[in-house]
Amino acid sequence: MSLLTATTGLAGGISVAGWGSALPPRRVTNHDLAQSLDTSDEWIVERSGIRERRWAGEGESTGPLAIAAAHRALERAHVAPKDVDVVIVATCTPEQPIPSTSAIVSSELGISAGAFDLNAACAGFVYGLTTTSALVEAGVVRTALLIGAETMTSVIDPDDRGTAVLFGDGAGALVLRGSPGHDPAAPGLVASDLVNDPAGIDLLVVPAGGSARPASPETVAARQHYLRMDGREVFRRAVRAVEASIGRTLARAGHTAEDVALFVPHQANARIVDAVLARTGLAPERTSSTVDRYGNTSAASIPIALAEAAEAGTVTPGDLVLLCGFGAGLTVGTALWRWGTPTPPGREAA
Ligand code: ACO
Repeated sequence: MSLLTATTGLAGGISVAGWGSALPPRRVTNHDLAQSLDTSDEWIVERSGIRERRWAGEGESTGPLAIAAAHRALERAHVAPKDVDVVIVATCTPEQPIPSTSAIVSSELGISAGAFDLNAACAGFVYGLTTTSALVEAGVVRTALLIGAETMTSVIDPDDRGTAVLFGDGAGALVLRGSPGHDPAAPGLVASDLVNDPAGIDLLVVPAGGSARPASPETVAARQHYLRMDGREVFRRAVRAVEASIGRTLARAGHTAEDVALFVPHQANARIVDAVLARTGLAPERTSSTVDRYGNTSAASIPIALAEAAEAGTVTPGDLVLLCGFGAGLTVGTALWRWGTPTPPGREAA
């Protein structure tokens, strides 16, 4: 029996051995926000589809959320920390600038594998999935822990009703196991598309806190550590860019929207998802939606939704899952993934 059949039950590929998510317990409803902001439940639901979100409390920042999601994914996968070959955390709100959140996760979980963070804003998890697949297919790693984790409340301006109502905190994680080589018929990445819209560079920014504008009393006074967004323009560009990216990905794979068993879009706004469904022909009844409960958790939104779908048994081996993230940059990433899980012990193919 080859290593490939042992890990996936199918010839070759990358299986999803485990999944997990972590959300802070504190629920913040639209009514709660309307106490301090000039907004209403009706406006937020109608414009975004969001009804509530989870906000981190003391000790629930990106590192601890990532660790909790990773722990659940490893447990579900029955994978020991010593068997993990790489830890990747997609985040734009890291635990701290140095060391990386992935190194913090590794330290806490006792993983001595390679560790690095990846920032592609809300598209980060899809970039991470594509990167992980390349590392596995190249034979660099066999078992990967891929996490999307964010504490968006660390960058939202509580006084800005245009952004404060949209974002939430959380983390989602996958344990991926596979073998070198690339077979589009096997479980794993079938096709992907990674793009950036250079004209959108100023539409979604946290101006300070990096090397161009290090934190100073002036940057704090000018509120430059908060997220600023031209929501209307992000909306307009995101719908067009996501439609095009999905079209390219499906075309590369030789598939159509009808072949997609589950669509997991970035959960930013229910209206963006509706517009994408109308333009691409993807089925609403086969589309994940968590935005009403968690709001926009940036790079965590796709793995949280995927973990929930996997836990509910919504995806079965052989299914095609389409993942699409978009965010600051404006960066878009789409991945078509053939779902496969490890074969239970004793049921491996001969
Ligand atoms: N409550 C009430 N009124 C509000 C609120 C609010 N929370 N926020 C804005 N408004 C007002 C505006 O001030 C504006 O008033 P005006 O007409 O008097 O100027 C009016 O509502 C309409 O504002 P718009 O911004 O045009 O509203 P829109 O329908 O575009 O919805 C929204 C705003 C929800 C932000 C939408 O544009 C959106 O979701 N954009 C995409 C955001 C996104 O997807 N970001 C993803 C990337 S996130 C990342 O990468 C980290």
